[in-house]
Amino acid sequence: MGLFATRIRTIDDLFLHTLKDIYYAERQFVTILPEMIKKTGDAVLKILLSRHVNETNQQITRLDKIFHAMGKPPAGLPCETIIGIIDEARQVMSEIHDEHVLDAAIASSVRNLEHYEMSRYDTLIALAKRLGKKEYLHPLQETLNEEKEADRWLILITEPKANEYSGSYI
Ligand SMILES: [Fe+2]
Ligand SMILES: [Fe+2]
Repeated sequence: MGLFATRIRTIDDLFLHTLKDIYYAERQFVTILPEMIKKTGDAVLKILLSRHVNETNQQITRLDKIFHAMGKPPAGLPCETIIGIIDEARQVMSEIHDEHVLDAAIASSVRNLEHYEMSRYDTLIALAKRLGKKEYLHPLQETLNEEKEADRWLILITEPKANEYSGSYI
């Protein structure tokens, strides 16, 4: 996290910093997810990831609206944690040749991203409450729910008989 890139003095500053952090993350994720969709041969995983690309684009739009409501231009803050998670995902994908192992590795890498996102959105919701910014709560909660839902389905890809499940998500 670029802790030294901005001076953080207040809860408002911390909220804006965290918003820029997750904005950077979401914009990185919409670049890595299509790479994973190309790599996997698992039809269910392709559908899950494609759906999450669409959700991620909507999540970026929600963040844009919060920036605008704050009177700030939407901007990401480069984050070493995100860069590291994505570099590791690309590295792992390049090292695996077995298709079933690759599918499990992709699902596992995306879960790393989802858990990072969940922690950021949980924090933003807590900070928005502290700042009395009730108007930010619904869009942030909507996104958090999508991240949790994506994570719940991705874990099934890494479990036995992953291709035998069915459900409303797809
Ligand atoms: Fe997201
Ligand atoms: Fe996500």
